[in-house]
Amino acid sequence: MIGVFDSGLGGLSVLAALVEVLPRADFTYYADTAHVPYGNKEDGFIQRRVLAIGKELVDQGCGLIVVACNTATVAAVQALRAAHPGIPVVGVEPGIKPAAQASQSRRIAVLATEITARSERLAKLIREHADGTEVFIEPCPGWATHVEMLQLDDPKLAADARARIEPLLDKGVDRLVLGCTHYSFLSPLLTEIAGQRAELVDVAEAVARQTQRLAGSLAQGRGRIRLQASAHPERLRAALPRLRLGTLEARLQSRAEDDDPVAA
Ligand code: DGL
Repeated sequence: MIGVFDSGLGGLSVLAALVEVLPRADFTYYADTAHVPYGNKEDGFIQRRVLAIGKELVDQGCGLIVVACNTATVAAVQALRAAHPGIPVVGVEPGIKPAAQASQSRRIAVLATEITARSERLAKLIREHADGTEVFIEPCPGWATHVEMLQLDDPKLAADARARIEPLLDKGVDRLVLGCTHYSFLSPLLTEIAGQRAELVDVAEAVARQTQRLAGSLAQGRGRIRLQASAHPERLRAALPRLRLGTLEARLQSRAEDDDPVAA
């Protein structure tokens, strides 16, 4: 089984990509909804949560863990790897490299939580992969919470997104890196704001391919998906249509109908 986790719904965007490339693998997804958002918490708190969730997933039989959260990756992926040296751990980091490679204007921006925005890990990624490219870091407080509440069309969120992104576009930014897995679900809004001026860069597919490389025999399971959460687990499945994750939802349903039980 492959364990995938996030503070909440955001990592479902990564799970959807994983299921595409590993259709026969068994997945268990854990949303730490009792503690979402992570993006404005202390690093120490996030580390404790990540280690507790990692232990729980390993105890449940996961042989590979995907940290489907940029914030948890910057705060705790090293601690998680150290705690489970025998288990491959795949983290999610903002797509600085693909964005810098694709940028024509040599100006890109990263949209991220406050923790990721001020992290040394992001600074290092920029030093290593964005040579000759100007990188603007834009913290977006509150966006992940809007996604959690499924307020994707909230006019206040749209106004805040416009106020943050338009000045970046005016500076010539032509790639907007989604530095938080929750922001994938804001793609329609962000694409509309960016218009023809910039493209979004999301790493979900790249993370899925990296997981596929490491999966080994875990790729060959029974194609089961389990959704779990530290609070209101029923909301995960209920959120799938609103998040346009029809494929995932159809898969959960068809498995249930198959008499091949999926605990969701
Ligand atoms: N989805 C997470 C990320 O990729 C964190 C959002 C949050 O909990 O603040 O950064």
